[in-house]
Amino acid sequence: MDVQASLVVDMVKLAASILAADWSRLGEQVHASLQAGVEYIHVDVMDGHFVPNLTAGPAVVAALRPIAREYGAVLDVHLMTENPERYFPDFIRSGADILTVHVETCPQLPRTLRDIQKLGASPGVTLNPNTPIEAIREGVDHADLVLVMSVMPGFGGQSYIPDSTTRIRQIRRMMDDIGSTAELQVDGGIGPDNADEVVGAGASVLVSGSAIFGGPLPIEDNLRVLRSATNYASNPSGDRSSGKAD
Ligand code: DX5
Ligand code: ZN
Repeated sequence: MDVQASLVVDMVKLAASILAADWSRLGEQVHASLQAGVEYIHVDVMDGHFVPNLTAGPAVVAALRPIAREYGAVLDVHLMTENPERYFPDFIRSGADILTVHVETCPQLPRTLRDIQKLGASPGVTLNPNTPIEAIREGVDHADLVLVMSVMPGFGGQSYIPDSTTRIRQIRRMMDDIGSTAELQVDGGIGPDNADEVVGAGASVLVSGSAIFGGPLPIEDNLRVLRSATNYASNPSGDRSSGKAD
């Protein structure tokens, strides 16, 4: 790989969504994903109101904190809850590095993002696939991460919504216009078949659950295949089947 391609590849990070992990062996599986090089551990928090499902709370983040710290990884908490601000202190105390809120739940988005920062975490903003992208504009300047949902939030294992690629491109353009240097993360239905498309549209962080923890191979091999697909996006003339991670 030439120097330029490796610089681009270095910018693409992988976030392992624990939703698809075997929770009876959560620590072990998170270890395996970190050992295989994921940069973020993505924790999906669902409240049964904003989305029709219930998942993890601060206790799970606290349990994962020492494992993430051991590898210098980022604990990335995606809040799919009404009144997300109620939970900021607990999640930050438990070790969340990033707290991402849905614009649909934040009537005063810039203030909410500033509150996260004041409490000591990095603020992220996201939007549902059917929310107009203009809704996040006033938040982009206050966010360290902008997350484009490529499925309706609530469940893992859904198919990538094809329109998402256009939305990623539009949001990348919006961020560039504003001068934002935030990460552009994409979440939902991402795997080796579409990772190149998502990176090509401007994503810098890919969230994946099913393709990492539920893929056909052991976790480290699933990750190698996924990483290889992002390498291909950055260097399309390269060998797609090499599985080379660095
Ligand atoms: C969906 C979650 C996603 C999901 C991704 O509401 O935000 O993080 O777990 O999982 P896969 O990769 O299975 O779509
Ligand atoms: Zn998520």
